[in-house]
Amino acid sequence: MRIERVTPVAQAEDEPDDPAGEPLLAGLYAIARACDLPGPAMSRRSFAVSVRTGFGGERTEAWAALDGDQVVGGYVLRLPQDDNTHLAQLRLMTRPDRRREGIGGALLDHAIGRARGEGRRVLIAEAAADGPGPGFAEARGFSAATTENRLVLDLRTADWSGLELLRARSVRHATGYSLERWTGPTPDDLLGDMARLNEGMNDEPLGDLAMEDRRWTGDRVRAGEELLTRAGQRMYTMIARHTASGEPAGFTQILVDAEQPEGWGRQGATTVLRPHRGRRLGLVLKLANLTWFRACEPSAERVITWNSVRNPHILAINKEMGFEVFDTWHQWQLAI
Ligand SMILES: CC(C)(COP(=O)(O)OP(=O)(O)OC[C@H]1O[C@@H](n2cnc3c(N)ncnc32)[C@H](O)[C@@H]1OP(=O)(O)O)[C@@H](O)C(=O)NCCC(=O)NCCS
Repeated sequence: MRIERVTPVAQAEDEPDDPAGEPLLAGLYAIARACDLPGPAMSRRSFAVSVRTGFGGERTEAWAALDGDQVVGGYVLRLPQDDNTHLAQLRLMTRPDRRREGIGGALLDHAIGRARGEGRRVLIAEAAADGPGPGFAEARGFSAATTENRLVLDLRTADWSGLELLRARSVRHATGYSLERWTGPTPDDLLGDMARLNEGMNDEPLGDLAMEDRRWTGDRVRAGEELLTRAGQRMYTMIARHTASGEPAGFTQILVDAEQPEGWGRQGATTVLRPHRGRRLGLVLKLANLTWFRACEPSAERVITWNSVRNPHILAINKEMGFEVFDTWHQWQLAI
């Protein structure tokens, strides 16, 4: 078995996919699809963008394990550049019919070498609780740093009149705020607001994960959105603004993979900045965005979201909205 690079180093953003890497990329995508669990799947287009660049301030490289000309496994390594430069994030996979042959272990050793070479001290990988990930991670000395649930709201069976009543009741606690919304990239004059709002995500509980706050600028927001657009993602964003001060107070986002929607919407970030918490703004934002999203995307059947089990506030909001637990994941961490 040999390990070959799928994507070349540090490409210009507008450069087309490397044609020589195409069969490896196709092989890796096939394995990623074979590893898919129930839930929204990544389109080929989205996968190609995520393998080349990642979606927010990191450099990404991908490697494939080959047996002859067959891709039998691979990994994607994300190396944050703007912050968290002590860590690397790993997505590791072995073709289902070639597991327990040492391929995953060899790929992990290779990835550790790459990450160390970039001066990284911590490796983070996520894996579903039901499946081979935990057994492999424990055998290789990782420890579980966070537990997250994926939750799903079925839009076909949701109690829409109950949700409208909930919105009307909640909005009474959130007087003094106005809502603004847009599809696609953020308008230029709101990029500064979006950078501030994204900083609010740094308050999310991360358990034992050795992750530092992420630093946001308007340029970073724009760069991430451009990649999402290139990956075929449609974005629905809603923000709340404090009327008296004109300050941004909170935001929420839902995304759809335009190439492979399959009835799924994916909840993106939701946050309310500290001075504005405790006024039901999070619930108001999420309900308003969901209603708007459903009107714009009539074929959407379900929305999926990720929540740390240690985040009671967002869990309470999602429970009130009717989200139900779908499955459980851990982030595994290894000092390298
Ligand atoms: C996790 C994964 C990458 C392991 O790949 P692999 O090629 O089977 O790994 P290896 O053969 O090198 O396994 C190394 C050791 O990990 C442990 N291990 C691997 N799979 C395991 C499982 N299903 N249950 C328990 N232990 C397991 C064993 O100790 C194994 O050694 P052994 O076979 O000599 O007992 C593969 O199962 C996979 O692609 N899973 C889906 C994606 C995923 O969960 N990735 C997250 C990784 S953190």
